[in-house]
Amino acid sequence: MSRRTAPRSAAVDVSGDQRAVRTRTRNELRAIRRRRSRPCLGHLIAAPLWPLHGANLGTLARTCDAVGACLAVPPLPWIPEALARGNTLREPVCVHVTGDPLRWLSAERSGGARILGVELAEGAIRLGDLPAARRRTVAVLGHEQYGIPPEALPLLDAAVEIPMAGIGHSLNVAVAGSMVLYRLAGLL
Ligand SMILES: C[S@@+](CC[C@H](N)C(=O)[O-])C[C@H]1O[C@@H](n2cnc3c(N)ncnc32)[C@H](O)[C@@H]1O
Repeated sequence: MSRRTAPRSAAVDVSGDQRAVRTRTRNELRAIRRRRSRPCLGHLIAAPLWPLHGANLGTLARTCDAVGACLAVPPLPWIPEALARGNTLREPVCVHVTGDPLRWLSAERSGGARILGVELAEGAIRLGDLPAARRRTVAVLGHEQYGIPPEALPLLDAAVEIPMAGIGHSLNVAVAGSMVLYRLAGLL
């Protein structure tokens, strides 16, 4: 059996019981996943509108695929190449190119979307209290160094903060965005 398809087992002690964990093979995963990427559902949109590092966009794209979300990015010249490089999926995820981020956020809000800032912010909703999205929701992610710019804050309906108990000030933007997307999608 090839190394890529062989099931791997491990003996795990759960409350005194021996339980064998067998990881799924690539063929099993292929059989239970969707065959084609989804069309644009327009329900959940991850919006890293002030990106600095292309690698984070690739990571967010994979999470968007996993939870059925779209990605919204500004029209920066390096982004298509960064997304193509970071995309390890067979098919691309749905990407909306926003134009000016503030104007795009305003238009989304006027159109009825809920604009949720993913940010370390006073009075923010704790991640564990965030309910699944019941209407079109845009999860706005901040710049990797400066966060969500002050001029965008009045456009947010609310903010969600992921509690942290260590010495670091903040999480990686793709990690933070992924956690919030899973909550909004109702998968966690
Ligand atoms: C590296 S952080 C920027 C940190 C911070 N706002 C600053 O000015 O130093 C980049 C982005 O990741 C997201 N983020 C990181 N940690 C977070 C947390 N604990 N809760 C919510 N969002 C977080 C936010 O979108 C933030 O704007």
